[in-house]
Amino acid sequence: MVGKVAFLLALAAIALSGVANSHEQEVVCYLASWAVYRPGMGKFNIEDIDPSLCTTLIYSFAGLNETTYTMMLLDPEYDVNKRALERFVNLKSLNPRLKVLIAIGGWTEGSTKYSAMAMSRASRKKFIDSAIAFIQ
Ligand SMILES: *[C@@H]1O[C@H](CO)[C@@H](O)[C@H](O)[C@H]1NC(C)=O
Repeated sequence: MVGKVAFLLALAAIALSGVANSHEQEVVCYLASWAVYRPGMGKFNIEDIDPSLCTTLIYSFAGLNETTYTMMLLDPEYDVNKRALERFVNLKSLNPRLKVLIAIGGWTEGSTKYSAMAMSRASRKKFIDSAIAFIQ
């Protein structure tokens, strides 16, 4: 179920980016941000991304606070303290055509709280408002 959610979000991202540039080829690249914790040669950091190869970059993952139904960081140490999100967005300076997105969810997040959030108009609004604030 979680995998399905992440997959559908990725498909939605691909579909949305396709609408904007339907006449051009899209190459959607996906960063598993926890790849930075792989040992040795497997380690993959923001600077290992070649933004000239992609038209869209997706950062995974952000999470959902199950109490407030707002977006939250899953790895604040890497995402913010090590400025991974900022460095990721800054890749746009190397490829002005690049669109950057963030995926929410993932295996460790589960799907239960996402279903709960989607159950009512009020909780969906909380999530939507927080997502807009998060992106801004
Ligand atoms: C969710 O938000 C509440 C209220 O702000 C906070 O107390 C709680 O620690 C948050 N949960 C997580 C997992 O960050």
